[in-house]
Amino acid sequence: MTLSKHINAEVLSNKLLKSAARQKLSQRELYISKYDSEKLIPKYEIPQDSSPDDLVYKYLTEELSLDGIPTLNLASFVNTNVSDTQLRLITDNVTKNLADNDEYPSLIDFQQRCISILSNLWNAPTTTDPETGLKRTNTVGTATTGSSEAIMLAGLALKKRWQEKRKAAGKSIATPNIIMATCAQVALEKFARYFDVEDRLVHITEESGHVIDVSKIKENVDENTIGIFVILGSTFTGAFEPVEEISILLDEVEKETGNDVRIHVDGASGGFVAPFVYPHLKWDFTLPRVDSINTSGHKFGLTSAGLGWVLWKDAELLPKSLKFSLDYLGGVEETFGLNFSRPGFPVITQYYNFLTLGREGYSKIFNSCISNARLLSNFLEKSGYFEVLSVIHKEIDLKRAAQIYTLPHDKNLKHHREETTNEKFEPGLPVVAFRFSKELRETYPEIPQSIFSTLLRNKGFIVPNYHLSPDEGEKEILRVVVRQSLSLNLLEKLVGDCIEAIELLTKSCKDVRSIIAAKHTSEQEDRELVYSLLLSIASGGVEDVKVEQHKVFDVPGTGHGKHKRSYRGTC
Ligand SMILES: Cc1ncc(COP(=O)(O)O)c(C=O)c1O
Repeated sequence: MTLSKHINAEVLSNKLLKSAARQKLSQRELYISKYDSEKLIPKYEIPQDSSPDDLVYKYLTEELSLDGIPTLNLASFVNTNVSDTQLRLITDNVTKNLADNDEYPSLIDFQQRCISILSNLWNAPTTTDPETGLKRTNTVGTATTGSSEAIMLAGLALKKRWQEKRKAAGKSIATPNIIMATCAQVALEKFARYFDVEDRLVHITEESGHVIDVSKIKENVDENTIGIFVILGSTFTGAFEPVEEISILLDEVEKETGNDVRIHVDGASGGFVAPFVYPHLKWDFTLPRVDSINTSGHKFGLTSAGLGWVLWKDAELLPKSLKFSLDYLGGVEETFGLNFSRPGFPVITQYYNFLTLGREGYSKIFNSCISNARLLSNFLEKSGYFEVLSVIHKEIDLKRAAQIYTLPHDKNLKHHREETTNEKFEPGLPVVAFRFSKELRETYPEIPQSIFSTLLRNKGFIVPNYHLSPDEGEKEILRVVVRQSLSLNLLEKLVGDCIEAIELLTKSCKDVRSIIAAKHTSEQEDRELVYSLLLSIASGGVEDVKVEQHKVFDVPGTGHGKHKRSYRGTC
């Protein structure tokens, strides 16, 4: 037998199965099923015969146990903590469709209440009813399947309004553009591509704190700019883009050129985090230029996956052409959204969270996430093995604090000491983005950072290793999202495992170096050999395939390495 480079395991096992002697099993023999040894579970075609449900449950559950453990999935912003009471509410309402307005009026009412709560949390303008003395807002919004759908709707509203204005002035609507930073999550770029809007990507640099370079915004604005997406909580590092500074700049641009560039804030994570842990940060509807905001209920809204929100501070900002009146299922409904049917239970969990946690609960949870993230950042830096690119552990002086935290103190809100402590640091999400320290990189250039991620994975922790945005494409970062499920207890395990992994790698590197030193190849060749050996082990061979992809995609002079996996695609 010759050793081929690649064995197709599925083909080989099917071949062997065909020729193997097998016992015949009948449906009566429930203690063992034909799928145990006689037959593989159908993967590509619906089976002809039915199977007992408990057996199918068993097989699916067994296979799913190969997945990572959600609590240890530190790659994701999406909440993984669902309490028993939440689960009961979810189970009770799992069959309710959020599209059935007439059939489930209480569910639809909960959606409206959540929109009002978010609108107040984000300081939408209010008027007081002269008769009742009650506060009223003219906010309009909807639940969505996530921030991605919410961003599409917000972008569409910007585009339609720009079109209406241009048409009224008898001007061309052929070439709309939208501004965003290169650290934008893929959903923002998708909006531009799917809805034929030019994507004006503003570069990010180390100097601009890995978020939008504000000094480059003005040169991208023209009469065809439909708006700007400002990101509250970069997916790469968690840093907040300076919404107020951008708003002031755009006021100046409007004065100079007449171009009125409206802001949509992508608060996928920050929309929930900022109001509770940075109470004096001005980023929301308090800024007149901010027209709409999105957030993900399933991230720091603390529901399970499947919920986003988008709000416009005034119903006038949602063009009529995006709304549909439907005479359907027994009533006339007004809808806007990309999806029609979708699960109703995440909305119920959201309202449940608002009621049970209140401001107090959300603040306490996020304060503990931020303080754990700060601890992890300081630990990694102090170890000397890592440098941290995220910012929430970076202390600021009073002058900088006065520039960032400008919202006057609201006497009606109780602020806890932790919140004001947070305002002694740069604002951001509880995210730790880090990489090998310069010293480690220079001393051990043979160690691919991805192998560190693989070693942590072997211990159970999922800490992804990605390339930064296309602007900083050569930089790889590791990222930990500190959600409420990363308790101090687990954090202690994580830091212990980080040190163990890095020390194992440096020791292995020294050992391999001493073995190949006897071979008299050049130092550069030795390093490349060890690096590719480790990289191949770390990626289970995937990196070998990528080397081939480089040859296809990385044509010199064409821009960024398109094969590279960056944080854009993560959630
Ligand atoms: C800044 C940002 N915007 C948008 C999204 C997309 O959100 P969703 O997964 O809720 O669609 C993400 C996901 O992480 C994000 O971080």
